[in-house]
Amino acid sequence: MEKIIIDGGYPLCGVADMQGAKNSVLPIMAASLVCDGECIIENCPDISDTEAAIEILRELGAVVTRHSDFITVNPANAIKYEIPDRLMRKMRSSIIFLGAILTRMGRALVSFPGGCELGQRPIDLHLSALAALGVKIGESYGSLDCSVDKMKGCEITLSFPSVGATENIMLAAVKAEGFTVINNPAKEPEIEDLQNFLKKMGAKITGAGTNRIVIEGVKRLNGVRHRVIPDRIAAATYLFAVAATGGNALIRNCCPEHLSTAIGLLRDTGCKVDVLDGAISVECDTVKALRVVRTMPYPGFPTDMQAPLMALMCLARGNTVFIETIFESRYKHVGELIRMGAKITTEGRVAVVEGVRHLKAASVEATDLRGGAALMIAGLAAEGETVITNLHHIRRGYEFPEKVLASLGGRIRIENN
Ligand code: UD1
Repeated sequence: MEKIIIDGGYPLCGVADMQGAKNSVLPIMAASLVCDGECIIENCPDISDTEAAIEILRELGAVVTRHSDFITVNPANAIKYEIPDRLMRKMRSSIIFLGAILTRMGRALVSFPGGCELGQRPIDLHLSALAALGVKIGESYGSLDCSVDKMKGCEITLSFPSVGATENIMLAAVKAEGFTVINNPAKEPEIEDLQNFLKKMGAKITGAGTNRIVIEGVKRLNGVRHRVIPDRIAAATYLFAVAATGGNALIRNCCPEHLSTAIGLLRDTGCKVDVLDGAISVECDTVKALRVVRTMPYPGFPTDMQAPLMALMCLARGNTVFIETIFESRYKHVGELIRMGAKITTEGRVAVVEGVRHLKAASVEATDLRGGAALMIAGLAAEGETVITNLHHIRRGYEFPEKVLASLGGRIRIENN
């Protein structure tokens, strides 16, 4: 089993380059199924979730080739419509393939994603929207059998701006007959990236990033070349790591405008943050607590940054209250942070963090992707040797964190036994 060993207590200093966005590349890989030509997807991060998406595309019949930092997808022979349960379980976000498979094949067989480490992740909004577009949905023993002759555009109002549901609707509507309107869609930058990818293909779609997306179905879409946006969650994770260690670093290849909430919070802690063109510099000494942090849909503070920021707040002067409004069960990292000397109490969706002077090195277990990132931050700040097991959770979304952290002077190594 792979584990990461961190000799912590040293400030992170230097320059680090960010990867492409996990939450962009996955829907974009699914979207490559709706066109007829070959797509070249650049800035594709080397993480296990993209490997899982490649496996799904190959299972469906697409030809996928990985090059250094780009992949090519040729969907010409993608004629299968079933994603095996084994692959659905590997990556919960495989549900975003549903809309794309229906557009291509008119039928999709997938298993129900069910609950996961973040709590229940229902897909009722995805399914009711697809039903409104004319899809017949059969459900039995945890499997979904969806079919449609021809999807017909319609007006859909989401009761919550779900990222996955917005993506599924976009991918189902691009070739539907007539107009589809999505009211209250997710506004995340990754939705805009998906729109840009589809527009290059020839899709008629506008409004991503606003309260209303309008799509006019077209008959044909072409293969394109596209560069995925930088990963804002990874960038925030490394910024928080620098802050937690009292370091001074330049984070490059990022999109500061996608990180305005994180930058604002970092400034509130007392860190000096400068925004440059495609880069952010951060310099920190002691950090102040933030009082209340509430996770919200974009442009609010992202649920994916909650655990990494909590690791930083463990070392802040004062108390911080976290309110997790997106997922009901996203505090699994708290127990591990407490093993490292953090003072945190939780009740339901609320966590109260009382800042301490120092964290202690310990053997801890990554419980999920972002919780694992929080432990890396805590380990970098804590003097002594921290061992983090279950590294596979972290590898789902962070491209070689050991290399990125080493470029910032982090003393970190991987062991495999
Ligand atoms: C969410 C995050 C996204 C993050 C991703 C991975 C938000 C708004 N979305 O996206 O930024 O990158 O997790 O961690 O922060 N819901 C339903 N029914 C549905 C779909 C969703 O009730 O059909 C609820 C969920 O239970 C949850 C909320 O809506 O409470 C957010 O869901 P959604 O945005 O769909 O989640 P993801 O797409 O996984």
